[in-house]
Amino acid sequence: METFKLPLVSALKGRHFLSTGDLSGSELDALLSLALAGKKAGRQAFGSPLAGRGVGLVFFNPSLRTRTSMIMATAQLGGQAVPLEIGAGTWNLEHQDGVTMDGTATEHVREAVPVLGRYVDAIGVRCFPALKDLAFDRTDPVLNAFARHSTVPVINLESSMHHPCQALADMMTIKERLGDLKRRKVTLIWANHPKVLPHAVPNSFALAALQSGVDLTIAAPPAYLPDDQSVAALKQVAAVNGGQLQLTTERQSAYEGAEVIYAKSWASTRHYGQIEADLDYRRAFVDWQVTAEWMLRTNNGMFMHCLPVRRNVVVADAVLDSQMSVVIDQAENRLHAQKALLASILA
Ligand code: CP
Repeated sequence: METFKLPLVSALKGRHFLSTGDLSGSELDALLSLALAGKKAGRQAFGSPLAGRGVGLVFFNPSLRTRTSMIMATAQLGGQAVPLEIGAGTWNLEHQDGVTMDGTATEHVREAVPVLGRYVDAIGVRCFPALKDLAFDRTDPVLNAFARHSTVPVINLESSMHHPCQALADMMTIKERLGDLKRRKVTLIWANHPKVLPHAVPNSFALAALQSGVDLTIAAPPAYLPDDQSVAALKQVAAVNGGQLQLTTERQSAYEGAEVIYAKSWASTRHYGQIEADLDYRRAFVDWQVTAEWMLRTNNGMFMHCLPVRRNVVVADAVLDSQMSVVIDQAENRLHAQKALLASILA
């Protein structure tokens, strides 16, 4: 039997990982500690718990970091990753039940997912939202269809509503730099962008941050603040884990004293499904860019972004190219966080 050098997070064993909300705050903290210990101990820290085993990586959408870090995480654990591009090398997949499949989809997830489960030991899936109807996107239809029909654990590689692997790396990066996360002053700030983007990254960052007990400020122009449903859910998480949630449309208070500035653009909740109306509305907020001048107001704050990032739109070169930016470490930590995750799920 394999002997592991690091204690795994047993709560994850054999389970889907669709959101960090699948874990308690203390289980999340244990996973972050495991990821940090694994990073420190080096490539072979976990041994080869995936030897002879496979991880399917199903991509409906493009990726640089998620694809590469999952392939390498699987390889460093002794396993074989199987990346699949849906519609480009595989058949187009249908996920809705009861449809007449006379369109572009050749295969239904009801067959494809259990078939994959006969070959591999876990399935990662990336499936962005349609961005037409927030209530519909909140059902996370593709991710949940995979989870329903899979006989092996499903790992969310960014769905309509969540990007939990990114959130693991995000919180790991803050913990690596600052130590204890409780009551840290963290700001998630909306940034201008030429495209209307999903809510997955900010949703998962806010959730994981509040699960970790930070004091989180979400700063955005009015139409980009989270809606009542999201705020109620996040406030509950804050109350359980000892942190606080604040919302503001004022950048000054959002930057003042912050230890972390996490920038991201996302779709307006008020204009969701109306791309042109959203783009028109945000014309008044093109100066919502993270600049060195704004960073001066922070408490020696670090700049974070999940990447890819648009330079001099979301963030100024002077920030991204400075010591303030931790985005490369943040991206590296995807690898370490996912090794801890895969080992805990599959070992
Ligand atoms: N941050 C992130 O998920 O990057 P990719 O879209 O390149 O995978």
